Amino acid sequence: MKIVAVADYEEMSKVAAAYIVSTIRSSSSFSLGLATGGTPLGVYQQLIKNYQTQQTSYAHVQTFNLDEYVGLSPQDDESYHAYMNHHLFQAINIPPEQTHVPNGMAVNLEEECVRYENHLQERGGVDLQLLGIGQNGHIGFNEPGTSFASRTHVVKLTPSTLAANARYFPPSKKQPTHALTMGIATILQSKEIILLASGEKKQQAMNQLLNGHMSESVPATALRMHGAVTIVADRKALQLALAQREDYDDR
Ligand code: PGA
Repeated sequence: MKIVAVADYEEMSKVAAAYIVSTIRSSSSFSLGLATGGTPLGVYQQLIKNYQTQQTSYAHVQTFNLDEYVGLSPQDDESYHAYMNHHLFQAINIPPEQTHVPNGMAVNLEEECVRYENHLQERGGVDLQLLGIGQNGHIGFNEPGTSFASRTHVVKLTPSTLAANARYFPPSKKQPTHALTMGIATILQSKEIILLASGEKKQQAMNQLLNGHMSESVPATALRMHGAVTIVADRKALQLALAQREDYDDR
């Protein structure tokens, strides 16, 4: 794994966005895997800024989101579909039919997982996957204990993830307890992966990712099996992990 250590959240966002833009611009057909949560917001702001100033086109891009809450529709402000519309899709020239998010409202959730996985495979898989990391080491919503061989599936969210994401739900709104997520094997099939991490809260997870044992109890450690992962993380997130390593690009 290549480690790009940056100063702060803003630099993390700029570095990752610049790379995404360069790959999109150098390709005639591109499949971009997207993440939600607090971490990628700055990247999306940079992509929008770039679109407005440099007119980078997304007409040839398909996007595939990692996950969605069960029971929330794109009309629910807290859904990841709404998040993507609000924070990226509506501000760039991507045709809505080229944006793919699992359907958390599907009557048969198992069938929806198979449909989403097949849809992704039929379109040739993800070229570049953007990932965050949970405080418990999850990637997508693959919680600790998820099989490294997993494909898109339904998950029960752990108390730690529910607590970390409670801030996104107003008191009047019930927080979903389940989600649909690409599996770990699905994520590992991406040709290239960028993992973002910022802030002290990610220190433990980053230390486990970089220095701990590869284990299903820390889902992100599966990324070590992938040959093209770049970690773009700030000093606070890397503080514990970097003390023990030399192989990073110190900007
Ligand atoms: P966050 O979530 O960006 O909101 O910290 C990351 C994750 O849970 O993958």
